[in-house]
Amino acid sequence: MAAFLGALKKLSICLILWLNTLPFLQGGSDYYEFKYPFIKRASSFWASSSSFSSSNTDEASYDYIIVGGGTAGCPLAATLSQNFSVLVLERGGVPFSNVNVSFLSNFHIALADTSPTSASQPFVSTDGVINARARVLGGGTCINAGFYTRANSGFIRRVGWDERLVNESYPWVEKQIIHQPKLAQWQGAFKDSLLDVGVSPYNGFTYDHIHGTKVGGTLFDRFGRRHTAAELLASANPKMLTVLVYATVQKVLFDQTGRRPMAMGVIFKDENGNQHQAFLTNNRRSEVILSCGAIGTPQMLMLSGIGPKAELNKLNISMVLRNEFVGKGMADNPMNSVFVPTNRPVEQSLIQTVGITKMGVYIESSSGFGQSQDSIRCHHGILSAEIGQLSTIPPKQRTPEAIQVSFWKRLPGLFPRGTSTWSTPTSMTTLQLPSTTSTTHMICSDALTGSAWLPRLYNQNISQTSQGVTNQL
Ligand SMILES: Cc1cc2nc3c(=O)[nH]c(=O)nc-3n(C[C@H](O)[C@H](O)[C@H](O)COP(=O)(O)OP(=O)(O)OC[C@H]3O[C@@H](n4cnc5c(N)ncnc54)[C@H](O)[C@@H]3O)c2cc1C
Ligand SMILES: *[C@@H]1O[C@H](CO)[C@@H](O)[C@H](O)[C@H]1NC(C)=O
Ligand SMILES: *[C@@H]1O[C@H](CO)[C@@H](O)[C@H](O)[C@H]1NC(C)=O
Ligand SMILES: *[C@@H]1O[C@H](CO)[C@@H](O)[C@H](O)[C@H]1NC(C)=O
Ligand SMILES: *[C@@H]1O[C@H](CO)[C@@H](O)[C@H](O)[C@H]1NC(C)=O
Ligand SMILES: *[C@@H]1O[C@H](CO)[C@@H](O)[C@H](O)[C@H]1NC(C)=O
Repeated sequence: MAAFLGALKKLSICLILWLNTLPFLQGGSDYYEFKYPFIKRASSFWASSSSFSSSNTDEASYDYIIVGGGTAGCPLAATLSQNFSVLVLERGGVPFSNVNVSFLSNFHIALADTSPTSASQPFVSTDGVINARARVLGGGTCINAGFYTRANSGFIRRVGWDERLVNESYPWVEKQIIHQPKLAQWQGAFKDSLLDVGVSPYNGFTYDHIHGTKVGGTLFDRFGRRHTAAELLASANPKMLTVLVYATVQKVLFDQTGRRPMAMGVIFKDENGNQHQAFLTNNRRSEVILSCGAIGTPQMLMLSGIGPKAELNKLNISMVLRNEFVGKGMADNPMNSVFVPTNRPVEQSLIQTVGITKMGVYIESSSGFGQSQDSIRCHHGILSAEIGQLSTIPPKQRTPEAIQVSFWKRLPGLFPRGTSTWSTPTSMTTLQLPSTTSTTHMICSDALTGSAWLPRLYNQNISQTSQGVTNQL
């Protein structure tokens, strides 16, 4: 009897394992349909552009249309669906069972994937800053370094949000996708180095943004699996939510018959290039919400006819509302990375320990990426020790093509004949609050290629702080 029970137990463990691995065995099939029945391909949307007049019925109209199912769009959709009908339009696919998204060990592999189906869309700003933006349901949380922290309370007050409501909302996210990291050896050494150079006190593990050195939260669980904003959709009301993937919104449609233009719907293209329209319900509180990211959102406004006159004229976009501020005031944290090659494998880690200085310089560190065989054969975009963000190619000449050429030229030196594994680069980064801003310009009016570029992001001299910490390490 005991043996039988033992066998039964083994069988059920096998069954559980089997169920867990099934999606991978099937090569990333649609197993998520059980958990997220409201996620569909854009081509399944019934209303087509030819049925413009008849499509404005209850069946195809929504209280809210959210453009961009990313870090902000997903939780917003889950929340609004409690009481309203919601349509989310996301240009990328689903992150579930995509190995480049799901595993910490593939962080740099995903950034290196420059193919059109990649969850990460690489771009280089006009002044040569190598960068990436998300193109997948879940947005930046699918390709980023996974570090999580609550916002600086000073920031919440400055932007005029309800601080109590913000505080009450954090646990909703934290319970679902945030984890306390298992501190990697490198992150422990990094903590000691920060304290040695005076980034004190040590605040231990905390979500709060406080001066000193601390360990923050992470999207990665203890098995190195990434949890993304797309998982927050699991707490949506499935009856009130439709999420379309591979839906690239072209523009917001406005009713211009009244005194002020009113958003009434959107035009989007599906994965086969067919055009569709979706509309808002005829309700004064209905809204089209843009959450396409820092570059995508001003781009969408301009594509829809809202923006600076000269910018719209340049691309023959008819003006709905003149607003000279759209695309202005763009800023990114200047980043300064120092790469430390090692000749022994270092456990891979992304951001766990951070230094928060009073000067507004934040210091973080990652370790051990680039140890896999795949890493040898490609450059890793913004993470490349191999190419150097700033070293080999003058900023103005840093086109994607020039970066590739430079990488291949340097490859033989980096991997001398006969070496099978690359030394394991470890990086230390300082991020500084930006002191300058710039403008997003449109270089074409095609939302598919999404070519809005960000000039002049990097002009800070922050080498001093990172040098101090590197010396300690
Ligand atoms: C490499 C990297 C590492 C990072 N590391 C961290 C970190 O460790 N911790 C941290 O807090 N932050 C990190 N960040 C920053 C963070 O990820 C972003 O600030 C955040 O994800 C932005 O959220 P968002 O909702 O504004 O935009 P996103 O999450 O980018 O969402 C925008 C969504 O809109 C979609 N979209 C755009 N245009 C259209 C269109 N026309 N039609 C339909 N859909 C469209 C996009 O596909 C995308 O899914 C990192 C960023 C990068 C690139
Ligand atoms: C939904 O409606 C209920 C009842 O009016 C209200 O208590 C709740 O706050 C609403 N939720 C959202 C997310 O709007
Ligand atoms: C992961 O990225 C690599 C390149 O970095 C690419 O070759 C591969 O096809 C990607 N895998 C998936 C599932 O997208
Ligand atoms: C919100 O939380 C922060 C830190 O956890 C705290 O300092 C602040 O007083 C809180 N604000 C409110 C209004 O509860
Ligand atoms: C804008 O329209 C003018 C006149 O029709 C045309 O010459 C020009 O090429 C157009 N520009 C773009 C970017 O489409
Ligand atoms: C940056 O700072 C370093 C260290 O203080 C200094 O040597 C260097 O000249 C500075 N570079 C620029 C461009 O200001």
